[in-house]
Amino acid sequence: MEKFHHEALEVAKAVARVIALALDLEVDFFDKPEMLGKPIATLRLLHYEGQISDPSKGIFGAGAHSDYGLITLLVTDDVMGLQICKDKDAKPQVWEYVAPIKGAFIVNLGDMLERWSNCLFKSTLHRVLGNGQERYSIAYFVEPSHECLVECLPTCKSEKNPPQFPPIRCDTYLSQRYKDTHADLSVYNKHQT
Ligand code: OGA
Ligand code: NI
Repeated sequence: MEKFHHEALEVAKAVARVIALALDLEVDFFDKPEMLGKPIATLRLLHYEGQISDPSKGIFGAGAHSDYGLITLLVTDDVMGLQICKDKDAKPQVWEYVAPIKGAFIVNLGDMLERWSNCLFKSTLHRVLGNGQERYSIAYFVEPSHECLVECLPTCKSEKNPPQFPPIRCDTYLSQRYKDTHADLSVYNKHQT
């Protein structure tokens, strides 16, 4: 796992260099110490038990979400399950399966990249449906360091296209997202008494 963590970080940095070039930045923009020089990079080892999902009843392997950071590298076994929605604002939303490719990572874009790029890169809305088979996957979340200021990139704003989000420190942003997405335990305690 340590070896995987170490090597996957190099893959993430290589992907970040492509993103930097695509955004007209210096190739090593995301290599700065406060960014991917000292990243928060987390592995999540996932096992889906084989429940059959039913979106109409709200039963999912993982409900629709986007990941919080810069990018997520995902490897899965060959059981289909991951779906993405390319247009988050479409009504109704259209979901398509992403087939796993042996030896390849699936790269999901995160919400911080969306903020950084002023929505030029949209974060990937995704979910997991169970088809009754057990499924294993490894998600590698790549986020900058806690003190990194995530603010609209100079190449992604203009007079006609002002920043859509205020600058925010990575730790402030993450705490806010955790708070928004995790139920407050006191709610359950209240129900029990
Ligand atoms: C996640 C995630 C997808 C998968 O853990 O955030 O989206 O295929 N996982 O398990
Ligand atoms: Ni995810």
